[in-house]
Amino acid sequence: MTTQRARGPRYVVQGGTVLRGAVRISGAKNAALAQMCASLLTGEDVVLTNVPAISDVDTLGELLTSIGASIERSPNGRLRLNARGVNVFDAPTELITENRASFQIMGPLLTRHGFASSSPPGGDVIGQRPIDVHLGGFQAMGAKVSRQGERFVAEAPGGPGSLHGARVFMDYPSVSGTQNVMMAATLARGHSTIVNAATEPEVQELCHLLNAMGARISGIGSQMLEIEGVPELHGAEIAVMPDRIEAGTFAIAAVMTGGDLELQAAPVAVMDALLAKLRATGATIEACEGGLRVARHGAIHATSFQALPYPGLATDLHAPMAALLTQATGVSIIHERVFDNRMLYVGELRKMGAEIVSTGSSAIVSGPTQLHGAHVRALDVRAGAAVLLAALVAQGQTVIDEVYHLDRGYEHLDDKLRALGVQIERA
Ligand code: UD1
Repeated sequence: MTTQRARGPRYVVQGGTVLRGAVRISGAKNAALAQMCASLLTGEDVVLTNVPAISDVDTLGELLTSIGASIERSPNGRLRLNARGVNVFDAPTELITENRASFQIMGPLLTRHGFASSSPPGGDVIGQRPIDVHLGGFQAMGAKVSRQGERFVAEAPGGPGSLHGARVFMDYPSVSGTQNVMMAATLARGHSTIVNAATEPEVQELCHLLNAMGARISGIGSQMLEIEGVPELHGAEIAVMPDRIEAGTFAIAAVMTGGDLELQAAPVAVMDALLAKLRATGATIEACEGGLRVARHGAIHATSFQALPYPGLATDLHAPMAALLTQATGVSIIHERVFDNRMLYVGELRKMGAEIVSTGSSAIVSGPTQLHGAHVRALDVRAGAAVLLAALVAQGQTVIDEVYHLDRGYEHLDDKLRALGVQIERA
């Protein structure tokens, strides 16, 4: 698979276009993936609309189908999931290791069927991504968790529906950990409290779907989630929220190229940290009907930031912001506080002429630099976004290999950029 991918599609981008026009923001990858996993909690239909056409959704769909769920996809982003036929509780390794979100099938399978087993999940190589928070939560609710060879096995000794409510303290407010443990708690007997829960908007959206399915979750959006277990959940329908990371990436593109973009359906209410930073760089940002307008006319000012859990600036926007700051006048300092190895993009941006040095989890960007086209790689989904943004302002042509990483998280990215005037080919 790796060899096939290495030969896979690449982007060829001509730099120098000023982005103008309107772009519609797609459904959020991380919200959709967790909501797809939630469908395992009931035998009734769960319908998601506004699901993005990205490869992470395809891969998770394949995984769900492989364990017996049925999925019907309409071309307009409507997904009907039904888990009545689920009869495999050992997740196939080749699918679970494709992305990180897949591990969130564990909580639903464990709580509803009493058993789940999986290899450690995959995902971007952006640091150590342990799963102790997930497993600790399952254990607190009475599950026996063991390691059998490469696999983690979680078992509810009393069988299906026998987990009990618990007070779970999360060592770190892990997004997928909170979601996994919360889904397990919805069908546990009694009351659960998750202390130090992640507050990300995608976690909140999962709570809304679960409550629409009959769960009893309160404290949504706070670091303390209260979950009253119920004997069963039922079907529900929900629209996937728009992707704040995709919206952020296009907002950065507008600022970087000195353009003017309308981001239709951008989830403005959950983008404060990014918008504050973009304003600090000199961008003009206005809410417009059903979205956001982002433009930049003068110079870009240097600004420093930390990537933090929500409501701080999202770690998924760290690399795209670093690409922007190569165009800012002065020195910007970046601290990554979420992942311990998010600096993969630095080497690629340096190939394009960026002046960035990284030490551990920090980076210092000096600018402005005239970037030049180069042959670079999309090393993960967001590092890929960073080199693509850099390619927009680089002199000449940039070839970006391994764009399958971008396909994991950005819907029709080249089409959207082309519609805004960018010369980009998928080769
Ligand atoms: C999710 C998002 C990802 C985003 C990240 C942080 C999905 C599919 N992915 O990833 O895009 O970058 O949130 O906003 O939703 N940790 C532990 N123990 C655990 C789990 C995590 O220590 O059991 C640590 C990790 O090492 C990392 C930090 O928590 O340092 C954040 O990880 P986490 O919030 O779990 O990220 P994901 O849910 O994997």
